[in-house]
Amino acid sequence: MDAIEPGYICRRCERGLARWDAQLNCPNCSVTVPVADGIPRFPVPDAVDDSAHETFFDRLAPVYETPVWFQPLYRFVGGATAPRDDRSTIASMLGLEAESGTESAAEGDTEAPSVLDVACGTGRITRHVARDAASVLGVDISGGMLERAQRYAAREGLKNVAFARMSADELWVDDGAFDRVACCWALHLFPDVDAALAELHRVLRSSGRLVGTTIVDEYVLGAAPVRAVARLTVGAEPFDVDSFRTRLRKAGFSSLEFDRRGAALFFRAQAG
Ligand SMILES: C[S@@+](CC[C@H](N)C(=O)[O-])C[C@H]1O[C@@H](n2cnc3c(N)ncnc32)[C@H](O)[C@@H]1O
Ligand SMILES: [Zn+2]
Repeated sequence: MDAIEPGYICRRCERGLARWDAQLNCPNCSVTVPVADGIPRFPVPDAVDDSAHETFFDRLAPVYETPVWFQPLYRFVGGATAPRDDRSTIASMLGLEAESGTESAAEGDTEAPSVLDVACGTGRITRHVARDAASVLGVDISGGMLERAQRYAAREGLKNVAFARMSADELWVDDGAFDRVACCWALHLFPDVDAALAELHRVLRSSGRLVGTTIVDEYVLGAAPVRAVARLTVGAEPFDVDSFRTRLRKAGFSSLEFDRRGAALFFRAQAG
């Protein structure tokens, strides 16, 4: 696949990284980032490295998009009123797919936007939004999920996507680098949610849009035993809507919009 090459920056000295052979190098300090199978593997903070997420999601990767995983779990969490296809809903909320009653891709934009898909997993959302975006960078901590993402995108012949191993709370991209950020089904997994939200805000251009989904402690996740299973399997901590709203505001987001379906919370927010 002729992948696009996003503009990565060094998070130790903020200089642009340059590609040299099979790695990215900082021209100013000693940072080098290996690139394996076209996927750069950036350093991740210790708390993320120590979490069990990478191993869990590496193992899950082969079945994640098969009928045994995402859709049944989504139905369980979201209930009967959740949109049937969350990908179209996300694309529409990002302003990429015009639907009646929603803003169109043309609003405020003269050209197709650049999108960062944080915790992209196997690239379910990445591939869907790539159709209407200028470019999409998908980042995740799980090498197994990213390898699938790369393979599925190549199978679909997508040329405007790239994938990198990065943690949501330390993104190796420049301030204001993206028009849109998506973060779906993942914020409840991050060990440092506030650091991640600050990063999502930092990498968005002024008035850029954050869209995503997370889980809240209502509906099935209002039950303590279900929350305990979620915590024990993947360390998932559902939010309560009010504290989630406060955290988004604290990170600098405004114009917050929420749509709760069961325990699934779809959200949209504006940077600045
Ligand atoms: C339930 S999957 C969601 C994947 C995709 N966004 C989707 O909607 O299908 C959660 C993803 O979050 C990733 N993840 C967990 N902690 C992360 C972190 N700190 N930074 C980046 N990705 C992380 C996992 O590796 C996993 O691929
Ligand atoms: Zn550097």
